[in-house]
Amino acid sequence: MNQPILSAKAVRKTFGKFVALDNVTFDLQPKQRRALIGPNGAGKSTFIGCVAGQIPGAEGQILFKGEDVTKLQPSALAKRGISRTFQISRTFLHMTVFENMMSAFIMARGSWPSLSTRVFSDLEDEVHAMLGNVGMDTRANETVENISLGDRKRLEFGMALAADPDLLLLDEPTAGMSIKERHHLMDMVVELVESTGKTLLFVEHDIDVVFRVAEVVTVMVRGSVFVEGTPKEIAANEEVQKVYLGEGDH
Ligand SMILES: Nc1ncnc2c1ncn2[C@@H]1O[C@H](COP(=O)(O)OP(=O)(O)OP(=O)(O)O)[C@@H](O)[C@H]1O
Ligand SMILES: [Mg+2]
Repeated sequence: MNQPILSAKAVRKTFGKFVALDNVTFDLQPKQRRALIGPNGAGKSTFIGCVAGQIPGAEGQILFKGEDVTKLQPSALAKRGISRTFQISRTFLHMTVFENMMSAFIMARGSWPSLSTRVFSDLEDEVHAMLGNVGMDTRANETVENISLGDRKRLEFGMALAADPDLLLLDEPTAGMSIKERHHLMDMVVELVESTGKTLLFVEHDIDVVFRVAEVVTVMVRGSVFVEGTPKEIAANEEVQKVYLGEGDH
């Protein structure tokens, strides 16, 4: 087996006395599509935040491509190839779709490009191409506060791709969408991730989406990995079913 692209070793994160993550250990293989599931409050978003650097202070070790990145800032992690979206989408509401995507490209490059006509028009082309990839080019000039939640999620996904990351972390990419929109977005995610050889770790509550997209499923409960396996194994696991039926019992 290849060296894992991401390796979490006994990751622990406390908020005061509260233990949000405890002994989280798992390996993510390159190009794998893995779902992170579990009841509300299980620690899924906290884990994503620890990996991508927004939540500092994790104990244990997080290795990315073999390097210990546990203490790195989000910008350093982004440079190494980690990109994420947020459970509550983070876009500039008063800017247009195009401007949002442009900012993502500029942030990903880490500096304001020299504005020669050539560079500027190349950048514009890239922005339009990415908007096209995520099905948002026809909405380029709309202000983000006026577009639907589903469109915002699509835009945010495209913005996360602007850095051309190796590892993409999506925290509830389909939250608030209709079933049809969910499948449409996730089919697009799979296509883009597969065609560019990226690794995907996504948090998702819709179990149909999970089973359709994930090759491996990690179930978290109360801050720890409860079980992991293929969608088939997870679907057949009675303990997992109990956890879901008993959701909210903690
Ligand atoms: N900054 C914080 N300070 C204190 N407690 C926190 C903080 N962030 C998260 N928590 C707590 O840690 C636990 C895990 O939260 P987290 O957001 O990671 O859960 P989750 O699995 O993403 O849940 P959901 O499915 O509802 O998004 C929750 O009990 C939450 O209240
Ligand atoms: Mg969450």
